[in-house]
Amino acid sequence: MKALILSGGKGTRLRPLTYTGAKQLVPVANKPILWYGIESIVAAGITDIGIIISPETGEEIAEKTGNGERFGAKITYIVQDHPLGLAHAVKVAQPFLGDSPFIMYLGDNLIQDSLNSFLDEFKSKHLDGLILLRSVPNPTAFGVAKVDEQGRVLQLVEKPKVPPSNLALVGVYFFSPTIHDAIASIKPSARGELEITDAIQELIDTQKTVEALKLEGWWLDTGKKDDLLEANRIILDNKLDIVVEAEVDEKSQISGRVHIEKSSKIINSTIRGPVIIGQNCHIENCFIGPYTSIGDNATLIDADLEHSVILEGAKIVEIHQRIVDSLIGRRAKLEMAPQRPKALRFMVGDDSHIELV
Ligand code: DAU
Repeated sequence: MKALILSGGKGTRLRPLTYTGAKQLVPVANKPILWYGIESIVAAGITDIGIIISPETGEEIAEKTGNGERFGAKITYIVQDHPLGLAHAVKVAQPFLGDSPFIMYLGDNLIQDSLNSFLDEFKSKHLDGLILLRSVPNPTAFGVAKVDEQGRVLQLVEKPKVPPSNLALVGVYFFSPTIHDAIASIKPSARGELEITDAIQELIDTQKTVEALKLEGWWLDTGKKDDLLEANRIILDNKLDIVVEAEVDEKSQISGRVHIEKSSKIINSTIRGPVIIGQNCHIENCFIGPYTSIGDNATLIDADLEHSVILEGAKIVEIHQRIVDSLIGRRAKLEMAPQRPKALRFMVGDDSHIELV
């Protein structure tokens, strides 16, 4: 059994953060989204992992993630020249996959469930395809499945205008090598992509065995700011180890589940967990409230924030109103004059969003 993680494509939905970086590397609780997928694949006993990358962001992904050693796996990077669809990515990976069955995992998805029971079901029933489904309020944004009472999949449609059910396809799939023949016989969709949903439909139409299981735990397709904040909240609630390696002065107060890494300094501040703070941060005269993640090398002075994700190297100084529900990009600076400001002065990147509420 092998695994194929799709980490190519273009990250249009988290712009502007993904102008300069891959969306799969955007951190949730200070860890790239992609790494959660790798960890759960390894936890299911699969260590031969191929990762699809694009020419634009692939180098950054490969450099940060490495050869797999840190996860106890072997990672092979496979370049897909253009994002021509999920099934196209499988086609490009065929030399890596050979005739092995495999898990296909979309690198921007996060799921709570362990993969083990799904994998057991796939293997013990000798299925050609196993998909995971979840009821959603907005099925038109996903691949959607119609299933019969035994869990057999009857029909799949990608982002339908009129959805046949509210069951969305989660970005984790299990395939036998028969998927390669199915992909060879489909044509690009109206949006010009080779759709994996069409390939699975082809398996169904040629009487192969495709089943669906419902996902029990949470699932996040971290495409937008609010999804990312929600993923951050859930991971901080469920997976945070309490460690304080930083220097904390006697005027500071730390309560709840808090993780602060080495070489960071906490001065005259209150940190109320769940909160994660990376390495080499300077936090002075701050209130850092629940559900906040602060990346490495960030500086926060005279700031008050909660339920926010602050990326590496960001600087927030003298902002006296509480910052909430915010996503602050790498090396971004937010500063306010010590006296009440008479004017607002911005240098804001394309697609940014500022709300003075
Ligand atoms: O998240 C679940 C949904 O994922 C499913 O319900 C849909 O059926 C499925 O098509 C997919 O839809 P998205 O619109 O979310 O797909 P997206 O373009 O965001 O791509 C998902 C991942 O695959 C992402 O990490 C980028 C990568 N990718 C995408 C394409 C189109 C590639 O590596 N190569 C590609 O050609």
